[in-house]
Amino acid sequence: MIEIAGLTKSYGSTTVLDGIDLTVDEGRIAAVVGPSGAGKSTLARCINLLERPTSGTIAVNGQDLTRLSRRDLREARRQIGTVFQSANLLRRLTAAQNVALPMRHAGLPDQEVRRRVAELLERVGMLHRANHYPSQLSGGQRQRIGIARGLALQPAVLLSDEATSGLDPETTLSILDLLAELRDDLGVTILVITHEMDVVRSVADLVAQLDHGRIVEQGTVSDVVRRSNSPLSRALLPMPPVAVDEQLRAWAVRYEGPEVSPVWLAQAGRELDTDVAVLAALVEAAGDHRVGRLTVGLDPQLDDRRVVEVLTRYGVVAEPVDRAVLRAVATGANVAAEGAA
Ligand SMILES: Nc1ncnc2c1ncn2[C@@H]1O[C@H](COP(=O)(O)OP(=O)(O)O)[C@@H](O)[C@H]1O
Ligand SMILES: [Mg+2]
Repeated sequence: MIEIAGLTKSYGSTTVLDGIDLTVDEGRIAAVVGPSGAGKSTLARCINLLERPTSGTIAVNGQDLTRLSRRDLREARRQIGTVFQSANLLRRLTAAQNVALPMRHAGLPDQEVRRRVAELLERVGMLHRANHYPSQLSGGQRQRIGIARGLALQPAVLLSDEATSGLDPETTLSILDLLAELRDDLGVTILVITHEMDVVRSVADLVAQLDHGRIVEQGTVSDVVRRSNSPLSRALLPMPPVAVDEQLRAWAVRYEGPEVSPVWLAQAGRELDTDVAVLAALVEAAGDHRVGRLTVGLDPQLDDRRVVEVLTRYGVVAEPVDRAVLRAVATGANVAAEGAA
């Protein structure tokens, strides 16, 4: 479990992290997203103790890392494994030797190192590459070795800073599957730093958006997706543009299965005694939930309250969409303004 409270990091007069509060429960995967320069890597370096925070606390399994002496810090560092974008493997060492390195530094006996290396390589599916050098491995294979090395000292927390950036989608998926497996089998708490929303959708339990050193939005992925007008929700599930039709009143509709009937749309239309035009639709899996977002067009003569009442009964949330917003979406104009509208 990671508990970050009031974390601030400044370099001189520049504040890079400004009052970060974030809790990740044991055995959960949290994703921190945000534009380049937001402070994501600085956050990672504060958590793995490569940087001293200016103020605030970071606790791993209840132990506040910011209060430790230099000697205790070295011990505490073992609780946190880190995987970087380029895996940072040593070129002159084989995969097995790279994985062994943190254990050798920690002074573990040879026999135990050998046993653990085999175990770790097996876990990341790389036992057959044990004696290969990094240059003989693909990007995805190097990341697997990097993850095995990150796990070498059996950390409670695994940090991944852009570990899937630059990998092709298929390799990214296989790395994400591996992270989910580590969470489920070993109960490792994982913090994934990424700018890729697909990564968040497929693996994260929790998501936090960092912007200019502050968390501007956070929540479980399914909760965030259900928020209609939040910027993070839009980024997670971007809607396709819709055509504006003056004959229809547009409604934004969201739902989260499985309690929503798969035929709700047709049934609700019958109940409202109207045709329903589907202007845009998106149904996705987020974690173990199915979520859907639609823009539907309804007869403008219908009473808004009745529409809401009927759709609510089917378990879907509906709100009329401002026509100006629709037009902005259709023309590709800045939709960030919609949140404020
Ligand atoms: N050692 C440092 N000294 C001064 N400024 C830094 C240092 N490290 C990072 N920064 C600044 O902090 C901001 C956040 O950087 P970083 O954490 O790398 O962002 P991200 O990983 O989200 O792209 C940037 O504006 C960067 O220039
Ligand atoms: Mg970074």
